[in-house]
Amino acid sequence: MSYRDALNVFELQELARRRLPFPLYSYIEGGVEDNQARDNNRSVFQRIRFRQRSPVDVSRRSQSVELFGHRFDSPFGISPMGIGGVFAFEADLQMARAAARMNVPFTLSGYSTFPMEEVARHATHARWLQAYMDNDRERALQWTKRAAAAGYEVLMVSTDVPARANRENNVRSGFSLPLRASARLLFQGAIHPNWSIETFARTLMKYGVPRLENLVVGGRPSLLEAPMNGDMWAGRGAVDWELMRFLRDKWKGALLVKGTLHAADAEMAVRVGLDGVVVSNHGGRQLDGAVSPIEAIPEIRAAAGGKLKILADSGFRRGTDILKGLALGADFILLGRPAMFAVAAGGEEGVVHALSLLKSEVDNNLGLLGCPSVDDLDPSFLHFSDLFPQGLPGCQPAPTRPVLSVAHS
Ligand SMILES: Cc1cc2nc3c(=O)[nH]c(=O)nc-3n(C[C@H](O)[C@H](O)[C@H](O)COP(=O)(O)O)c2cc1C
Repeated sequence: MSYRDALNVFELQELARRRLPFPLYSYIEGGVEDNQARDNNRSVFQRIRFRQRSPVDVSRRSQSVELFGHRFDSPFGISPMGIGGVFAFEADLQMARAAARMNVPFTLSGYSTFPMEEVARHATHARWLQAYMDNDRERALQWTKRAAAAGYEVLMVSTDVPARANRENNVRSGFSLPLRASARLLFQGAIHPNWSIETFARTLMKYGVPRLENLVVGGRPSLLEAPMNGDMWAGRGAVDWELMRFLRDKWKGALLVKGTLHAADAEMAVRVGLDGVVVSNHGGRQLDGAVSPIEAIPEIRAAAGGKLKILADSGFRRGTDILKGLALGADFILLGRPAMFAVAAGGEEGVVHALSLLKSEVDNNLGLLGCPSVDDLDPSFLHFSDLFPQGLPGCQPAPTRPVLSVAHS
């Protein structure tokens, strides 16, 4: 099967599974410890159902949204993901070009193996960047100057990795950072020749051993030296609100924190003057058992009081998932693994295919929902009493509709 035959992002994931050495596939797919957060990110969608409106004229539908000064063609984009170049040749460049073709944002990871300046030349439509920071202001300042000079407009500081995640699945499958040629990885490379030739050999020939090119802390280590992100703060102190306040003064573009799951943190983000938060549990890859974004969006929206853009990621795989997130109060949705699997399965074209599938699912389901535009989505389209039996947190209970009395003559 070619990526072109995939009917949904799950089928692209299956193609990526066949193409990638198992330790690499498992690094992308896995969560942490018992995968509770990752699995709940998916199952929670079943606890919210739609209440479609009909009849409604939905012959003309719109899913375009304006965010941070751009009008995007769809209400979703790509989350930041590190070391993509290990899974597909020039993965970040291919994802950036695919996103530009679909006019949706691609977020470059601070853990990428491609310099932000080079990716900026491919992300011609919108330049979004993520960073892991420690608490050193001078370092943060120098790095943000570099990002501004490269033309980035949106900066997301991920604050949900203050310590190392316990990814037991990586130990079992033979994946580690720094990269080590474990017996399992070597054997798996041998039985996945497409990856070995198209990604591994091609990358080595063109770039040598890839390096982390956009770190705030720790120089430019090669992947044979690079630490797991959560190990970088040892003895340094991870980012806190004072650093965010400092960055707010220095960064002229949109500034967001990524990893918000608590209403009190959304209130802090407002106080510090941020532009938005990414409601995220990192795809269930950090704190196992963390609440899913779908459970947290309503209270975060209420706490933000209209002063923040609410982005959300973790577990979104279908157009209907995206519509549920928006109807609950998110302004924009990001997707991680689906884009990485798509680039591994079919390169730039694979990512365009994944984004097109999602776009068409959003469009089609908007029609079925009886909602002409994503701007019109609100909680009234949802049945959410399984998940929020007391009503949506932070919202007044919906007024009970008076029963229409029909006068009988
Ligand atoms: C392979 C991989 C690498 C990731 N690297 C980063 C990263 O460098 N920075 C970051 O903030 N989040 C990173 N994430 C988390 C994503 O940005 C995003 O929060 C998560 O993937 C969303 O969940 P989903 O994969 O279920 O869509 C990574 C996720 C994956 C799967």
